[in-house]
Amino acid sequence: MDWGMNNRISRMIKPSTGRTVMLACDHGYFMGPTHKLENPRKTIEPLLPYADALGVTRGVLRTSVDPRADIPILLRVSGGSSILKEDLSDEEITTSIKDALRLNVSAVALSIFVGSSHEKQSLINLSKLVDEGEEYGMPVMAITAVGKELEKRDAKYLALACRLAAEIGVQMVKTYYCEDFTRVVDGSPVPLVVAGGPKLNSVEDVFNLVHNALEDGAVGVDMGRNIWQNENPVAVIKAIRAITHENANAKEALQIFETEKTDKAKRVANPARL
Ligand code: R5P
Repeated sequence: MDWGMNNRISRMIKPSTGRTVMLACDHGYFMGPTHKLENPRKTIEPLLPYADALGVTRGVLRTSVDPRADIPILLRVSGGSSILKEDLSDEEITTSIKDALRLNVSAVALSIFVGSSHEKQSLINLSKLVDEGEEYGMPVMAITAVGKELEKRDAKYLALACRLAAEIGVQMVKTYYCEDFTRVVDGSPVPLVVAGGPKLNSVEDVFNLVHNALEDGAVGVDMGRNIWQNENPVAVIKAIRAITHENANAKEALQIFETEKTDKAKRVANPARL
């Protein structure tokens, strides 16, 4: 692998642990000002110190992220459909590799919709992006999107989608955690990170998901709503970091979460003393 490509990946997947905590904040590209991401800067800023990479579009990057921030950027470069459409799979490449380079990002990300009405279009989009990425040393992440069909998230489907992306030549894939996830990992010769999906019932569920995904072979998470839609987003991401980089289990993560939550409540109650 070329030095530039390798260097960009190493900024996101930390060489010390071989793992990563990516913070996904790119939802507005098809969901608009979704709950708790209405003001991207307000959501993103407090979480940045605990993220290994930040996933955004160029619009949010330019308007809502301090260019002096020391955070590798995973740039969302596909789009074209909004939440108003039943079928979200009609996407194209929305951002040039030239602009990605100008923004000094560490990787570009694009959704593929395997099995959808625009399957071929999304796979060809990915192929073009990989060709350009190879030319400029820019890693490409495929996102195995399911649109509104969340029930598609099973091992058989995700193993197929991840493998297709790997065969096209991506450097990493974002997918979903599922039962029998090792089947997905085993079929993918490139690293996998897992998304969180819609907000789960409890933080225990989130910590179990992260722990199990890593145990099964994911190299990390690229998670959004289960972090920033929580009332205590910093506490959630700190706990996820401990699972990811310090091998904490879900119970230990919960303790970290509760401690951080209590400390925050004390800071709010008595800002002068702490
Ligand atoms: C979809 O908007 C993006 O691919 C998200 O970055 C991805 O779904 C991860 O975010 P979440 O954990 O909220 O599902």
